[in-house]
Amino acid sequence: MDKVIITGGKRLKGEVEISGAKNSALPIIASSILSTEECILKNVPLLKDIQTIQRLLECMGARIQRDGYTLNVNAKDLKSCEAPYELVKTMRASVLVLGPLVARFGEARVSLPGGCAIGTRPINLHIAGLQRMGAEVEIKHGYVEVRAKRLKGAKIYFDISTVTGTENLMMAAVLAEGVTVLGNAACEPEVVDLANFLIKRGARIQGAGTDTIIIEGVSKIRGDSYEVMPDRIEAGTYLVCGAITGGDVTVSRCIPSHLDAVLMKLGAAGIKTEVSSDSVRVIADNGISAVDVRTMPYPGFPTDMQAQIMALMAVSRGLSVITETVFENRYIHVPELRRMGANIKLQGNDAIVEGVKKLSGAPVMATDLRASASLVVAGLVAEGKTEIQRIYHLDRGYERLEEKLSRLGADIVRVS
Ligand code: EPU
Repeated sequence: MDKVIITGGKRLKGEVEISGAKNSALPIIASSILSTEECILKNVPLLKDIQTIQRLLECMGARIQRDGYTLNVNAKDLKSCEAPYELVKTMRASVLVLGPLVARFGEARVSLPGGCAIGTRPINLHIAGLQRMGAEVEIKHGYVEVRAKRLKGAKIYFDISTVTGTENLMMAAVLAEGVTVLGNAACEPEVVDLANFLIKRGARIQGAGTDTIIIEGVSKIRGDSYEVMPDRIEAGTYLVCGAITGGDVTVSRCIPSHLDAVLMKLGAAGIKTEVSSDSVRVIADNGISAVDVRTMPYPGFPTDMQAQIMALMAVSRGLSVITETVFENRYIHVPELRRMGANIKLQGNDAIVEGVKKLSGAPVMATDLRASASLVVAGLVAEGKTEIQRIYHLDRGYERLEEKLSRLGADIVRVS
């Protein structure tokens, strides 16, 4: 199995271009199911998770062609409304086909995703929302089976802010009869990106990006072209890579306002940043101060950056408390960072990180994408070699990681 070997200690310098956002591209690709017309999607990153959703749509009968970063998706002849266990178990976001399938065909059979490394991650709120819209739902043989002649607009309030839950119900509501109001909706930029694409195709949606989204159902959603927004988590990860190596890194083709919470924490840690309209430069020449971080739904500090900021705090001056509030078990990276010499104690949802002068390279692995990213971040400053195994997790969410980091001056190779 492939692994990545990093020899730490190189100061990163230069510019890195950010790819399209994985978590925008996934619902946007799923939304092509809503129409019989072709969708032309640009800036779709070359990632394992994107291949998975592509395979899922293809096995339902969609025709998909990739040309570089452009994906042509035609769901006209979709013949199956089933998302099989074999695919859903490899990627939970497969559940994003549920809303569009029910909206267009009045039925869907989607394998229930099980728990995953970072938490139990149920989809009860997706299901409850569809039921509020008049769908009949049965859980049978590990699958959720949903039926509805035509979904009806409804007022839906989410108990917990859920990103894919909001996206699924927004896609369901665009073809429903009447008005749907999603209360306590997720405000993440990925929700807004999906809404913008749906609006371009004839959907009537107001309020995306706020906690109340109002969707007036229409009878048809067209095909169209759309450019997926840049990946804010990939951007944040490279900023942290620059910061931890005392580097000077410009992260380009990103949307700086999506990174406000991350930039604020970097600033508080004594790391200088310069923001332009579509890039952020990080200049780290004065060490790293300890800061406390609490993950929250957007616009709070993203849970998808928690592991990477923890690696940074592991070599800071002082003590920081990192609190994970979104997922119940997102500290898989902690034992591995400890093996690299980090001083981290876990107390419930809090990780208490006492900065050490040096980390030391070690063979490590993680069972989650962002946990793996934090090991890369740590490996960049660790003394000696860090060997990261199970890198298929990195391939799910970071495009050409070794190439991008090598160009910045890191000593990183992938070996089979
Ligand atoms: N939740 C429920 N019931 C539901 C749905 C969610 O209890 O029906 C809970 C979850 O268990 C969790 C919280 O609500 O504790 C928030 O989960 P959310 O539904 O927002 O997560 P998600 O939609 O499954 C997306 C991203 C994740 C990211 C989270 C939080 C995609 C494809 N995935 O997941 O991305 O961590 O939002 O921002 O958009 C990643 O990219 O590495 C990743 C895990």
